[in-house]
Amino acid sequence: MISKPKGTVDLTDKRARVFKYVEEVIDSCMEKYNYNYIRTPIFEASLLFHRGIGNSTDIVTKETYDFKDRGDRSITLRPEGTAGVVRSYIENKMYGTHNLPVKVYYNGTMYRYERPQKGRLRELSQYGVEVLGSSDPMMDAEVISLAYNINKMLGLDDTVVHINSLGDKESRDKYREALKSYFKPYLDDLCDDCKERFDKNPLRIIDCKVDSDKDYFKDAPKILDYLNEESKEHFEKVCEYLDILEVKYVIDSKIVRGLDYYNHTVFELMTTDNNLALGGGGRYDNLVSTLDGPSTACVGFAVGLDRLVDEIIERDIDNVRNDIDAFIMYVNEDEKKNAIYLANLLRMSGFVIETEYTERSLKSQFKRADYFNSKYLILLNSDDLNEGLITIKNNKTKEEEKIMMEYVIYYFDEHISDDNLPVEEYHNHSEGCDCDE
Ligand code: HAM
Repeated sequence: MISKPKGTVDLTDKRARVFKYVEEVIDSCMEKYNYNYIRTPIFEASLLFHRGIGNSTDIVTKETYDFKDRGDRSITLRPEGTAGVVRSYIENKMYGTHNLPVKVYYNGTMYRYERPQKGRLRELSQYGVEVLGSSDPMMDAEVISLAYNINKMLGLDDTVVHINSLGDKESRDKYREALKSYFKPYLDDLCDDCKERFDKNPLRIIDCKVDSDKDYFKDAPKILDYLNEESKEHFEKVCEYLDILEVKYVIDSKIVRGLDYYNHTVFELMTTDNNLALGGGGRYDNLVSTLDGPSTACVGFAVGLDRLVDEIIERDIDNVRNDIDAFIMYVNEDEKKNAIYLANLLRMSGFVIETEYTERSLKSQFKRADYFNSKYLILLNSDDLNEGLITIKNNKTKEEEKIMMEYVIYYFDEHISDDNLPVEEYHNHSEGCDCDE
């Protein structure tokens, strides 16, 4: 047997249904916030990620799937979505539009060679948004509240946004120096990764998972104390707008993020019962110019769909339909033709219908109907059909009644609760099936 590669998942059954449901909530929310869907390639030139995400980051040094294609080009499977969107923004000259900011969202698989464990996959799915062309703190607040509100819509009411500011370059440079002088006496005591970070990216020492419990970490300098006036003002505005949007947030000086492109606002989405972030993002005003585009202020985030779906399944809070409206039962060929006809008619009118496909006893058909939690059963028999009648049984109360087949849509419209898609047309009520002519 050939097994799936380590760190990948098959989406099946309940997990697949919850996944689809989450995607539907995301799509409908994005429409309300007026974000356009964007789809960029799953593989890109390796240089894009090396330059975009940063050569010293864990993602680029340890986690990318790199290969040479048959034309000897260096290719990387995308480890995240931002760099590809920015490349597309530049390549398609979206900055030329009068409609800045460009607001886009995506949903797709990303690839990171991580040690597989719960919440850490090698093929992961993210949905995310990128806003290109606005430096206004209102935009940071909209993006944060969008991620927060989607979590709330999905029933994750205990979501809290952990927010911090990395300030502008001047503030960060000052902070970097302060960090280096602070940690210098402890250098020998730091973990191997942090020893390396000390020179390349001292900010990442702050979110070290190995050393963070050590006493001297608690007194380490905090970036917010190093922000210049402009950076401070930006951050205060973001918080003020988040208050208006009623987003629950805490200021958390440990949030520094693992990708190099951030400045000013950075944030992560946490829930109370999980210490893995569900999502994260922030402002990245220099990435477009790093990738040779015109200077463009940007902000965005991505949420791990796999982690989101895990949380929803563990808490049993999905609103996923796991029942059908009706199961159509029959035993002979004439009845089967009517079943085919009726299933088509009802499905096209917005109802969720299943029927039998192989010759099976009525007993096993009842079992199948129960397996699908069918609300109603439609029982077809030739004698009734000759008089234009069908039997409909409420599978819960077990009450049944005979109705004229031509009224079946009216019947279901009246009896099925309105959690279905709206039935927009009641046209062409069945005149009965012509099948036996
Ligand atoms: P990130 O923090 O690297 O940010 O990833 C965002 C989310 O993707 C994480 O919070 C997590 O839920 C999920 N994720 C990351 N790695 C894995 C993994 N190995 N397995 C499962 N889930 C994972 C970014 O990717 C940025 N591009 C976000 C962004 C967009 N910033 C600005 N715009």
